[in-house]
Amino acid sequence: MILKSIASLAVAAAQLAAAQELMRFGCSQLTIDRIDPLVEPGAFPSAHMHQVVGGNSFNATMSPDSHDPPTASTCTSCTYAEDFSNYWTANIYFRARNGTFKRVPQVANLGLGVKAGMTIYYIRGYQASARVTAFKPGFRMIVGDSTNRVAAKVPRGLCFRCEANMQQNPFGGAPCTGSDTPGFPKQACGGGWRVTITFPSCWDGKNTDSPDHKSHVAYPATGTFESGGACPATHPVKIPQVMYETMYDSRAFNDKSLWPENGENPFYWSMGDNTGHGIHGDYLFGWKGDALQRAMDNKCAGDNCPPLTRQADQKAIACTKGQIAHEDIGDDKWLTELPGQSQMKDMNM
Ligand SMILES: *[C@@H]1O[C@H](CO)[C@@H](O)[C@H](O)[C@H]1NC(C)=O
Ligand SMILES: *[C@@H]1O[C@H](CO)[C@@H](O)[C@H](O)[C@H]1NC(C)=O
Repeated sequence: MILKSIASLAVAAAQLAAAQELMRFGCSQLTIDRIDPLVEPGAFPSAHMHQVVGGNSFNATMSPDSHDPPTASTCTSCTYAEDFSNYWTANIYFRARNGTFKRVPQVANLGLGVKAGMTIYYIRGYQASARVTAFKPGFRMIVGDSTNRVAAKVPRGLCFRCEANMQQNPFGGAPCTGSDTPGFPKQACGGGWRVTITFPSCWDGKNTDSPDHKSHVAYPATGTFESGGACPATHPVKIPQVMYETMYDSRAFNDKSLWPENGENPFYWSMGDNTGHGIHGDYLFGWKGDALQRAMDNKCAGDNCPPLTRQADQKAIACTKGQIAHEDIGDDKWLTELPGQSQMKDMNM
């Protein structure tokens, strides 16, 4: 029964991969740390906690002029050996009635051999003939806004899916469709959540970054990337659409007698957001040489595609990194506050 549903999920994923020409691969957890080389370069600790996958040169400072991830890294937690990029998001915590917090654990996605971390997608889109230009060294971007608390302001392509069971059965269709929500699911979910974070797919063709880490990229002018929508004149270059999928096992917190009596949501992003609308993702490009361009040109799909090198899952799992901002992350004991939240109060944030 379980095998059958995994098999049908694998078939569904393969069909989706063939239709959209998407690379889908696992990256196990590199570290959980309070650093943020994009928003707060040099700061440790940064304002909130992150979970990070990818190359092990991830650091508080990653200036594009002096830090080349493929050179500075000695391993990657992703299954493609040429990918030393870093992918990170905030963490999620459960707040008990007595006000203490525990981290909601992550688990690996179905069909992947790596440990808890993220599933990473590079999507070429339906327009098979259109050229997709890989990112240039130094490229980085952010999607979503950690300070947002309004559902309508969550960009499309960022969402939560409440899974009925750990087999993700029935398979809920394309990301951010159906009953997927832009905030935390309000009900207890038998299979935890699948959180999707999708980046824009058009680039201005010049800047590898921008002051807000967003304005150098844009969404298609009409339609969607998936439907082959054209890029706007301001951002004419079609780039791979990067997407993160993270599975959270919230089952240990499903007992509603532990949830706040006033009906408030007990789940929090690590920046202290219990709406979920602060959902955001950070991307720092770090593929070796022209590996990503070759993958795009070869219409690579899945997680094992020549000319790329697929490393053994065990090698990806073995690539980890100690914390720089040494801190309790709330796995073994209940925390009296979210890491960094007392500083935020001091700063009147
Ligand atoms: C991280 O940055 C510090 C300070 O610049 C440096 O000493 C250290 O070697 C860096 N670590 C990695 C893995 O690049
Ligand atoms: C707070 O609540 C949690 C979950 O119910 C419990 O395990 C923990 O012991 C409580 N802590 C205190 C200090 O009461």
